Amino acid sequence: MTRVFSGIQPTGHLTLGNYLGAMRRWAEVDQHRAESLFCVVDLHALTMDHDPARVRRLSRQTATLLLAAGLDPDVCTVFLQSHVDEHTRLSYLLECVATDGEMRRMIQYKEKAAKERGRGGSVRLSLLTYPVLMAADILAYGTDEVPVGEDQAQHVELTRDLAVRFNQRYGQAFVVPRATLPQVAARVMNLQDPTRKMGKSDDSGAGVVYLLDEPDVVRKKVLRAVTDSGRDVVHDRAERPGLANLLDILAACTGGNPESLADVYDSYGSLKKDTAEAVVEVLRPVQARHRELCADPSYVEGVLRDGAEKARALARPTVDTAYRAIGLLPPVAEPSLSAAR
Ligand code: AMP
Ligand code: TRP
Repeated sequence: MTRVFSGIQPTGHLTLGNYLGAMRRWAEVDQHRAESLFCVVDLHALTMDHDPARVRRLSRQTATLLLAAGLDPDVCTVFLQSHVDEHTRLSYLLECVATDGEMRRMIQYKEKAAKERGRGGSVRLSLLTYPVLMAADILAYGTDEVPVGEDQAQHVELTRDLAVRFNQRYGQAFVVPRATLPQVAARVMNLQDPTRKMGKSDDSGAGVVYLLDEPDVVRKKVLRAVTDSGRDVVHDRAERPGLANLLDILAACTGGNPESLADVYDSYGSLKKDTAEAVVEVLRPVQARHRELCADPSYVEGVLRDGAEKARALARPTVDTAYRAIGLLPPVAEPSLSAAR
């Protein structure tokens, strides 16, 4: 059976981009057709300046929202990355296969490092090595497919390179995975600046719809979305990015096609109004389920405990194989056993 793995960082409140670009597909499609693991990648939240209490809070909230979005622990595995040691165990081996130049070429690293330096801050070494940890997340499970938004395509490409290189040098240890990108909403853009993606750690929340935003807040953000001074409604990502983003969001929420939706509207006002309502309707059941789950935190804890146990059992043999292949001796067996041999 196909094995699917994906992850989400607890670095901010989850957004409509996370939902349309990733989570909804995990819940509606992936978990039902493949053996799937979905991981709150908390170690990745430590690569930039962080507040420990906030990471704890967001890790719990992110896991709760994954379940609220429809991930069903009876058919898939939901867990926290830091609960399964295999991720960091494997990451080190992959650091011995990756190169310094390769890491420095990662777009996300270049962007985040430049931003940090611009603020006069220092760049954590873990920000540079983070794509290797991500590769370990994926390769530890013999993953075939990685459902992610477009921004992660380069990291999955790196993961493939590392898997192929390791297998060639040290013998077959890893399945070579591939990214699967959504048909629509692969990149939901910021409503105030449609040339940037809608990200959960954006400094200003005005262009970002959060999954837990109240309906009226959602409406306000969508109605105030930046468009352009044109009048006709056309889908043109390069020339009319704000308009294209609204059409993409509406299409993703209603199951339509962004190009044909453009023909339906003759004013920006009615497009914005319908988009706002479509987003409110998509978020409504997720928010309702989130409220229920928050009332029962021990349920979520139980899911995460069982999830980590299942994940550990799956990852262990693959990571052990990689340890042997690269030249590390297995720990010596108990003396009584080796003496008996
Ligand atoms: P992150 O928020 O970086 O932890 O991303 C978690 C998942 O959501 C990844 O698969 C991302 O590709 C996806 N994602 C994040 N932001 C967006 C966005 N604005 N549009 C589409 N997908 C996104
Ligand atoms: N780097 C991903 C992001 O920022 C999150 C992530 C970490 C991930 N490990 C992963 C995604 C493994 C897919 C598979 O969105």
